[in-house]
Amino acid sequence: MKITIFGSLNYDLVTSAERMPQPGETIGASNFETHHGGKGANQALAVRRLSSQAVSVEMIGAVGNDTFGNELLASMTKEGIDTSRVKVSKTERTGIASIFVDPKGENCIMVYPGANGTHTVEELNLDTFKGSDLLILQNEIPLPVVYKSLELAKKAGIKTMYNPSPVYADAPLDVFKNVDYLVVNSTEAQVLSKAAPIGSEDYSPEQALSALKPLQKTLGCNSIVITLGGSGSVYLDGEETGHVPAGKPERIVDTTGAGDTFLGAIAGQLIGSNKPLGEALAFASKASAIAVSRHGAAEGIPYLREIE
Ligand code: RIB
Repeated sequence: MKITIFGSLNYDLVTSAERMPQPGETIGASNFETHHGGKGANQALAVRRLSSQAVSVEMIGAVGNDTFGNELLASMTKEGIDTSRVKVSKTERTGIASIFVDPKGENCIMVYPGANGTHTVEELNLDTFKGSDLLILQNEIPLPVVYKSLELAKKAGIKTMYNPSPVYADAPLDVFKNVDYLVVNSTEAQVLSKAAPIGSEDYSPEQALSALKPLQKTLGCNSIVITLGGSGSVYLDGEETGHVPAGKPERIVDTTGAGDTFLGAIAGQLIGSNKPLGEALAFASKASAIAVSRHGAAEGIPYLREIE
């Protein structure tokens, strides 16, 4: 079995402070750390760490010809991920994410794509994802490339999992007919369903459950997962719906990458262990509860042996 992740690799520059700065304001920070990140790379690591060894994991992406890129590539390769199709750009530096974290572990992120922006539609063909059982995509590489990849995978009979993050309100709806598993948070679900913003941070589980069917009707995806932070997640799988409570973190220090951990865990359970979606979410909830208790996106992702 093989899972391919086509997406971003970033070097995360993480600054912690008592609160987020306001526009035009300078505030003192309490800590600074660098971590490995990028939604694509995080999800690839999560699949690798949280799947059985029967699953092979490939990352397709791009880094710059610089120290950050070398470090990211070396660590992913060391973990057993096939990085042979991660390009080293001659013109662009490795993607950078400037991340601010507050004492509750919440974050604000600004991403400079760098090499992640160098992929083109012309590089893709029907054989690009050949041999994969599942292709995972996010929105940190050029959108035409994401959309074309979904289309090609579907044509080649490969299952697709799509995490449209960051989300764009003008995303063409016909893209989603090529998505088998859509994984979104509450904000992304509201944007894609064109629902009026509900004015709070997240849907309640009840609100999210009632948003699932209309979203499925609008987008045409068979399976949809909406993540709800501390309220867990809800899912629609064909006709079946359910709510899965969140795992119980020992503490919350950094939520960066928790969603990527969650998605990677689901993918491993579905493809590697043939679990139904509801069971995959229960497993993923435990994994992301561990991720939020640790610093760093990639570094915080737990290993299979840590999940009870
Ligand atoms: O999802 C978390 C990731 O988003 C971070 O690692 C950062 O690189 C941004 O891409």
